[in-house]
Amino acid sequence: MDKKQWDQFLAPYKQAVEELKVKLKGIRKLYEFEDDHSPVEFVTGRVKPVASILEKAKRKNIPMHEIETMQDIAGLRIMCQFVEDIQVVKKMLQSRKDFVVVDKRDYIAEHKESGYRSYHLVVLYPLQTINGEKQLLVEIQIRTLAMNFWATIEHSLNYKYSGNIPEKVKLRLQRASEAASRLDDEMSEIRGEIQEAQVAFSRKKKNDA
Ligand code: GTP
Ligand code: MG
Repeated sequence: MDKKQWDQFLAPYKQAVEELKVKLKGIRKLYEFEDDHSPVEFVTGRVKPVASILEKAKRKNIPMHEIETMQDIAGLRIMCQFVEDIQVVKKMLQSRKDFVVVDKRDYIAEHKESGYRSYHLVVLYPLQTINGEKQLLVEIQIRTLAMNFWATIEHSLNYKYSGNIPEKVKLRLQRASEAASRLDDEMSEIRGEIQEAQVAFSRKKKNDA
């Protein structure tokens, strides 16, 4: 595919990511109006760069005519403060009427060997296009701020070492992942206290404005 063909192929994915970013960020706003703790801290989204699509297609033996089977060409990420929030977000997404969950991967119940922790949903999103409806696969990753910190750092190291992180660093990362998991546990223990403080603070900001 040349540049123009790629742009054409990726356009619906871009549209889907933009639409879903608006929808998922909206969840946070609704909780704010209710003066309630939002299970969503922030949301990001991206379309996979062409080079990464090609690299993954090669690695997984996906032929070009089956490229739409790749589940993470469109990707959304929902960051939460607490592990408990992940359950809330997960349930909310599963009960939505604007997409269907087709796959789940729980790397929190069982983290990856690298130390990676997150909950993944793959959904089928019906995009309205000028040629009618187009069903697109979208990957939604749900994770705590601590899990996101770890994954971001590990991702940079993987980039630096082209996927071959030295054993010594790998071990450190596994330990860092355990530390992040303990941080999540500690925060869960005082969750009630933290949420009360945050709700009071955001109410004060609203009143002052
Ligand atoms: P790829 O990992 O993208 O090849 O997809 P997959 O089909 O193997 O699915 P998997 O659930 O393993 O990974 C999907 C996505 O999760 C990746 O694209 C990353 O965003 C994230 N991910 C999975 N494993 C790791 C990891 O060890 N470290 C980091 N930083 N991210 C990971
Ligand atoms: Mg993988």
